[in-house]
Amino acid sequence: MTATAFKPVDPNNLEALWMPFTANRQFKKKPRLLARAKGMHYYTPDGREILDGTAGLWCVNAGHGREKIVEAIAKQAGTMDYAPGFQMGHPIQFEFASRLQAMLPGDLDKVFFTNSGSESVDTALKIALAYHRAKGQGQRVRFIGRERGYHGVGFGGISVGGMVANRKQFGLQLPYVDHLPSTHLPDKNRFVRGQPEHGAELADALEKLIALHDASTIAAVIVEPLAGSTGVLVPPKGYLQRLRAICDAHGILLIFDEVITGFGRLGASFAAEKFGVTPDLMTVAKGITNAAVPMGAVFARKELYDAMMNGPENMIELFHGYTYSGHPLACAAGLATLDIYREEGLFERAAGLAPYWEDAVHSLKSRRNVVDVRNLGLVAGIELDPRKGMPTARAYDVLVDCFDAGVLVRTTGDIVALSPPLIVEKPQIDRIVDTLGQAIDRAA
Ligand SMILES: Cc1ncc(COP(=O)(O)O)c(C=O)c1O
Repeated sequence: MTATAFKPVDPNNLEALWMPFTANRQFKKKPRLLARAKGMHYYTPDGREILDGTAGLWCVNAGHGREKIVEAIAKQAGTMDYAPGFQMGHPIQFEFASRLQAMLPGDLDKVFFTNSGSESVDTALKIALAYHRAKGQGQRVRFIGRERGYHGVGFGGISVGGMVANRKQFGLQLPYVDHLPSTHLPDKNRFVRGQPEHGAELADALEKLIALHDASTIAAVIVEPLAGSTGVLVPPKGYLQRLRAICDAHGILLIFDEVITGFGRLGASFAAEKFGVTPDLMTVAKGITNAAVPMGAVFARKELYDAMMNGPENMIELFHGYTYSGHPLACAAGLATLDIYREEGLFERAAGLAPYWEDAVHSLKSRRNVVDVRNLGLVAGIELDPRKGMPTARAYDVLVDCFDAGVLVRTTGDIVALSPPLIVEKPQIDRIVDTLGQAIDRAA
């Protein structure tokens, strides 16, 4: 007799799964399934090839099914599948942390492992609070995020985040949070290539918030150097430098959320390097393992770590961590991923392709209903005029049309976001842009 728990099921049943960030009922009526992936392509269960214009979800930076990563994961699984990371360690997590440390910009120095971008954000916020407490400034409990920011889906992340839909369904958020205005100035910066000229002064809103709340209550400011999920908002020239200077003047920590911009997306290791601004804490995930095994990390300046190394040595210094922090399989995937990035020069490759990418995506400017195009590195946002009374419908039609035509794009609101793997070839860029252009034309 089969135990009830193991009774046979229909493998094609779509109803058991509650899908994340998905219109479940609409999707299950007409599913879009991906069954296999290699290089620049996904394949549907019936074998149709789909060109990946989004690196999965901004994460498969080295392209799909990389053998070196697959082998490293398999080897590690056979050597040691899992080991506890609390009061115990395993060699590969130290090796991976050292490799990451060696590539960090400025004086970022310490690596704390998590399993996702959301966990990295909550970890960074907690480290900021713990640091100020350790320095005798426990009254610094306030966080400043930014309108249209996306910092994942934990309570910390949605509180400092500024994407309204991600907040309003839940009502409850962290207290003591305020927001900077978004850096999006469509009237001044429409169809700008790369970093906009206008908007650095928006950083001065931080001075106003400091005057309102008093610096002594503020722990940290958190921003994405380039906001991705809200539809690709490129930082105005000088903006991040100004934020850095204001934070420094007031003893406020600056956190860069580089979950998307880390690991080559902008043609540099990190946005911090690209823009020449070093934060006190940096959050990463996605490209850290080429998405082959979930992983995230927080990078911290040495001073933050040292501030907490003061009590008795037998005491745990930071009461925080995850069962899977520094998971051996993730570390193995991460080491192989860094090898590929270095050996194939993928960050430099992204920088080299960026001008071609820029020309290609800006060729969409003249298509009807395109109201803005924004780009940097190998990222682009193509903003469409919403259909009257039906926000998001036009972009959704474009997504479905592109998928039917064999190209994967991503949409957020009425903005199409593109971020191909860094191994993309020029003819593939042309194909992504041509297919998108035709889909936009059809989405009347
Ligand atoms: C800037 C940023 N932070 C945090 C996250 C959340 O990452 P995850 O989905 O791995 O929790 C994302 C995801 O896209 C992101 O773009």
